Amino acid sequence: GGSGHVEDVNFSFEGPFGTYDQNQLQRGLKVYTEVCAACHGLKYVPIRTLADEGGPHLPEDQVRAYAGQFEIYDPELDDYRAAKVTDHFAASGDPNAPDLSLMAKKRAGFHGPYGTGINQLVRGMGGAEYIYTLLTSYHEPPDCAPEDFTGSYNAAFTAGGFPESCKNEDGSHMVPGSWIGMAQPLWGEDVEFDDGHENSLHHEAKDVAAFLMWTAEPKMMARKFSGLTGVIFLTILAVLLYLTNKRLWAPIK
Ligand code: HEM
Repeated sequence: GGSGHVEDVNFSFEGPFGTYDQNQLQRGLKVYTEVCAACHGLKYVPIRTLADEGGPHLPEDQVRAYAGQFEIYDPELDDYRAAKVTDHFAASGDPNAPDLSLMAKKRAGFHGPYGTGINQLVRGMGGAEYIYTLLTSYHEPPDCAPEDFTGSYNAAFTAGGFPESCKNEDGSHMVPGSWIGMAQPLWGEDVEFDDGHENSLHHEAKDVAAFLMWTAEPKMMARKFSGLTGVIFLTILAVLLYLTNKRLWAPIK
């Protein structure tokens, strides 16, 4: 099958010391809210976590204001009411659009070589890279495709429909990717960032991909910190054991 090429992006949160960039997460939240939320939900994400340190770290009053702009259905009231910070983000409004809470961990950007996964060891799983590449890989449909083939052609999306006329005699795909049921959502200059950051297609895609990495793994920084603490602790322990060992055996040798 035609596999899509995923671009390697340098995200701030990569590597053992990587951390989320708070301003980037705030920009990504804006892209999500103004564009993606029209169809996609984030039903596993509590709104209050927007205030978390290590996350977007928005001031409490801004988080309250953010929540207050949404109406959610409350089963206890059997009615709609303004959302509170203790509520979660809404679920997907479009039943065909998957929930994005965990999408950055569901998809891998890097594979292989030959099923060994060494690329993932070196470059990471690539879930955020996949989302970035997906959003920037809409192209004119290739000439091999029939005029009326439904959906949009995306060079990074491999799970969609693919016309017979774009396959070789041996059935292999002549063009990468496939046809996706999501029309191109970002074009550049879709949102104005409060920090004046560039809003080209590539910047917006990168920022929303970083934001979706955070929703999928909000405790990444804590996990890395405890891993590092463990490594330091074990190093000190190894040195002490080595010295103890020398000391104990010194009179006998
Ligand atoms: C699928 C992200 C905006 C409708 C997806 C997928 C991702 C994604 C990551 C899953 C692709 C996969 O299965 O590998 C985003 C982001 C958006 C956005 C980050 C905002 C920048 C929208 C909008 C709509 C929409 C505005 C509706 C108008 C869909 C649908 C699918 C989908 C229907 C399923 C497509 C298929 O399986 O063929 N989106 N999306 N998305 N999205 Fe979006």
